[in-house]
Amino acid sequence: MRRKLIAGNWKMNGLRASAASLIQELLDGISGAEPSFELLACELLVCPPACLLETVGGLTAGTPVELGGQDCHCAEAGAHTGDISAVMLKDAGCAYVILGHSERRSDHGESDALVRAKAGAALAAGLTPIVCVGETAAERDDGRTLAVVETQLAGSLPELGPGRPPIIAYEPVWAIGSGRTPSTSEVGEVHGGVRRWLEARLGAEAAAAVRILYGGSMKPGNAAELLAVPDVDGGLIGGASLKAEDFLAIARACG
Ligand code: PGA
Repeated sequence: MRRKLIAGNWKMNGLRASAASLIQELLDGISGAEPSFELLACELLVCPPACLLETVGGLTAGTPVELGGQDCHCAEAGAHTGDISAVMLKDAGCAYVILGHSERRSDHGESDALVRAKAGAALAAGLTPIVCVGETAAERDDGRTLAVVETQLAGSLPELGPGRPPIIAYEPVWAIGSGRTPSTSEVGEVHGGVRRWLEARLGAEAAAAVRILYGGSMKPGNAAELLAVPDVDGGLIGGASLKAEDFLAIARACG
């Protein structure tokens, strides 16, 4: 059974004070929650900007809220001004790292090959990579959604060995931050297609262990129906992860 993962991608948002209050509200919400967190059907993860990892990690340590980075370099250390490595994220208390988000692919020209190298470095450092894929509006209009997603998967996923598998996040580029989402049947088609793609390469058992998240304008109002789609194993949440109440409402929608 795959446990759902609700992951907050804070992007470039938050300062120490606002991050600390957001985490405090999340933790208060969890401990006061009915049903309590232990009864929630999901894992919770927050991915703050790198400079807030220490503040956030100090508050989440020992709680059920896990910590992740938003990107990492593919090398362990060295002359790479402005970058941070997977080993550094691990050292800062992270268990996960988001890789190949469409904003990294467009803002920083990240290729599938680079994302794959980063994902390999993340696995080697003991982090679980969350590898993002998704089509643009034009690609969907051309009927190429699944082909685009499969090409990105083939190019971006690391070699899969024993140990915790990577996570895949399907995020249609046109749905991110737009308030628009694909229909549940469109989401189901892509997630089912990704599962079949994994089965063909890894075999049924290994493919069944991979969690496939949906991301793009997931909100309290649409979370329950999106999370009920077969093969949707959680959400990667941007805007709605910046409000504790909304993030917790999405987590509760897991079941
Ligand atoms: P959104 O972002 O929830 O604000 O659409 C999702 C993401 O980019 O991961």
